[in-house]
Amino acid sequence: MKRIGILTSGGDCQALNAAMRGVVKSLSNNVDELEIYGFYEGYKGLIYGNYRLLTSKDFSGILTVGGTILGTSRQPFKLMRTPDANGLDKVEAMKSTYHKLRLNCLVILGGNGTQKTANLLREEGLNVIHLPKTIDNDIWGTDITFGFYSAVNIATDAIDCIHTTAASHNRVFIVEVMGHKVGWLTLYAGIAGGADIILIPEIPYDINKVVEAIGRRSKAGKNFTILAVAEGAISKEDAQLSKKDYKEKLKKRKYPSVSYEVAAQIEAISGNEVRVTVPGHTQRGGSPCPYDRVLCTRLGAAAGQLILDEDYGYMVAMINGETKKVPLGDVAGKLKMVEPDSKMIQEAKLMGISFGD
Ligand code: F6P
Repeated sequence: MKRIGILTSGGDCQALNAAMRGVVKSLSNNVDELEIYGFYEGYKGLIYGNYRLLTSKDFSGILTVGGTILGTSRQPFKLMRTPDANGLDKVEAMKSTYHKLRLNCLVILGGNGTQKTANLLREEGLNVIHLPKTIDNDIWGTDITFGFYSAVNIATDAIDCIHTTAASHNRVFIVEVMGHKVGWLTLYAGIAGGADIILIPEIPYDINKVVEAIGRRSKAGKNFTILAVAEGAISKEDAQLSKKDYKEKLKKRKYPSVSYEVAAQIEAISGNEVRVTVPGHTQRGGSPCPYDRVLCTRLGAAAGQLILDEDYGYMVAMINGETKKVPLGDVAGKLKMVEPDSKMIQEAKLMGISFGD
């Protein structure tokens, strides 16, 4: 008999259901008696005991379905030790739900913040397995996170659509790509969509270099330019500021996001007409791409194997094409960023792509 709890936490993405299906299928095919407790809206469900006993049937037919059948919510890690409005100790509440249901293991699907709480629960003595979800691909210790390639497809589609209209109008276009504090999604979608300029947080930009790159294209007879700008892109000057000062500056920024600021600066310096497109949350929506379906099936099955082996306390990672167990304590709290001197950046630069540096 195995009793498993499962939850999805943080921002959603396309392949959460596919990953849960992978876990449950691999267990239900190999365990005679299996109880699966699905917690609603992430850690909230675990804290407040909001769950439902599910069967393997609930996980059937969801490989291709985006979102999460369990719902999700953001429960910031930094507030986990702060009692809720009614004075409830959230960590104790989660432990109490876990023990009350006599769970063998809790399977937790989520990004960086979720992973930190998963590690906290491990330190508190619970058996946990974490699966690395995020379109941002910023989880340390795994080559890839699920949701990433599905989001790359959507962001690339957005750039492709902008390409044709940009060419017709001889305009400069900015497509703002998600990714939080890192540039993976912008880098991949930018290259896949043939962006001429890619701005990512890891390589602070100089607006004059951006304008120069647009000018070089005009001189070469190319009258449109596409910029893929990460939502977390930052100028060289702002990168010099302390975190606190930068946050303060952002609060006073008169533009809705960095792309609008970059657009206004380009217009002011060069006189070029600039348009901004923000695909936003579409990047997290719709069906998982085939790559993510395979990735999640494999990660899910590998998590199932760990549970069968009663081997807990790991993130299931994909490293060099193989699933690997990585101790949660080694990776929780670490951010995987784009290396500014990596081969990929060097190759992109060789292609003439400007990073504004
Ligand atoms: O972490 C995934 C992500 O989509 C980021 O790329 C983005 O910055 C953030 O979530 C948006 O969060 P929310 O859905 O809470 O607005």
